[in-house]
Amino acid sequence: MTTVPVALGSRSYDILIAEGALDDAGTHLARFARNGRLVVVTDDNVAAAQLTRLEDGLVAAGIAVEPIVLPSGEGTKSWRFLEELLDRLLSVEVERTDHIVALGGGVIGDLVGFAASILKRGCNFVQVPTTLLAQVDSSVGGKTAINSKAGKNLIGAFHQPSFVLIDPSTLDSLPAREVAAGYAEVVKYGLIDDPVFFAWCEANGAALLAGDRAARAYAIEKSVRAKAAIVADDERETTGRRALLNLGHTFGHALEADTGFSDTLLHGEGVAAGMALAFRFSARQGLCDRADADRVAAHLQAVGLPYDLATAHVRAGGEELVGHMLHDKKMAGGKLPFLLARGIGQTYLAKDVDLTDVAAFLDDDRG
Ligand code: NAD
Ligand code: GLY
Repeated sequence: MTTVPVALGSRSYDILIAEGALDDAGTHLARFARNGRLVVVTDDNVAAAQLTRLEDGLVAAGIAVEPIVLPSGEGTKSWRFLEELLDRLLSVEVERTDHIVALGGGVIGDLVGFAASILKRGCNFVQVPTTLLAQVDSSVGGKTAINSKAGKNLIGAFHQPSFVLIDPSTLDSLPAREVAAGYAEVVKYGLIDDPVFFAWCEANGAALLAGDRAARAYAIEKSVRAKAAIVADDERETTGRRALLNLGHTFGHALEADTGFSDTLLHGEGVAAGMALAFRFSARQGLCDRADADRVAAHLQAVGLPYDLATAHVRAGGEELVGHMLHDKKMAGGKLPFLLARGIGQTYLAKDVDLTDVAAFLDDDRG
C-alpha cells in the first residue's frame, strides 16, 4: 500500500494505491460517509465489472450505497447527463458537505467532479479510478469538465477531489485496448522529464500490458508521483509547468477531431500518435535528434499503439488538421502553444511555432 500526497495547502489530499483496495473500501472510505451512506456514481460497464466489489466492501463496514449508473462513453460528458446527474444527486438529498464517489474512468471522473463543483455551490467528491488513464492522469489534479458542441472539455472547473483511491486490480476487467491507450499517458511522464523512466517503459511496457502486476503497480505509482508534483507546483496551469502534461495533445486532439472523437481513435491512442508526431516535428525543426524521435515511435509501435497518421487512421491533410488545432482551448491571442522536445525527457513549451510549418510537416510525414 502506498500513499502519495498532493500538496495544495487547504486543498491537499492523498492518493492511496493498493491492490485489492476496492474489497476493503469500507476501511478507506468510511470517513466520507454521512449517516452511514455514500452516493456512488458510475457507468454501466463499470457497474457490471466493479460496482459489486465496492458495494460489498462498503456494506461490510456498515455503509449503505446509493448507486447512480449512467451510460458509458464520451457522450456522457455532456449537458444532458450533467443535468440528469445533478437532478439525481438532488433527489437523493446530497448535501454541501457530502462526498460523492466517482467510480470509473476519465468520463465519470470528469463529469462527477464538475457536478460536485457546482452542486449547492460546491460539494466534495472522491475519485475511485478504474481505467489506467484515470489512475495515472485524470483522477489527480482537479481538472473537471464536460464537452460542448464547440469542442471537448470546454466547460469545466478546477475542483480537487478529497481523496483518490486507486486499486490496480480493477484494470483486470478493462479491455486490453483501453489499458494500452492509458499506457500512452504513462510513457508521457518519461518523455516529459524522466528519461530513466522512459527507458524503464521500453524494458517493461510489454510486460505491463500483458498483466504483470509488479510492473503495473510501479508505473502507476511513478506516474501519480510525477503528476502530484506537477499539480502541486502549478495547480491552475499558470506557470507553464502543468502545460507539459499536454505533450502530444495538440497533435492528438487534431487526430481525434479528424476521426470524430470516436472508437476509431481512443483519447490515449491520439496522445500516443501525437507524442510521436511532436518528437518528429521537433527533429525536423532541428531541436532534437532524429534518433530520439525514432526511439519514441519504436516503443509505441512495439506496444501496439499508433505512432503516425496512418496507424491513427487519419486521412486528412496537414492544412485540415491544423484547422482542427485552431479550435484548441489552449489558443491564446491567436497563437497555439506547442509542446516540443529537445530530447527524451526534455519537453518544453514552445510559443513561436508557425502553423504553416506544422501543416507542411504533417503532409510530408505521411510519406
Ligand atoms: P472512459 O471513462 O470512457 O473509460 C473507457 C471505457 O472503459 C468505458 O467504456 C468504460 O465504461 C470502461 N471501463 C472503465 N473502467 C472499467 C473497468 N475497470 N472494467 C471494464 N470496463 C471499464 O475513458 P478514459 O480513457 O478513462 O477517460 C477518457 C476521458 O478522460 C476523456 O473524456 C478525457 O477528456 C478525460 N481526461 C481527463 C483528464 C483530466 O485531467 N481531468 C486527463 C486525461 C483525460
Ligand atoms: N491531463 C492534463 C492535466 O491534468 O493537466
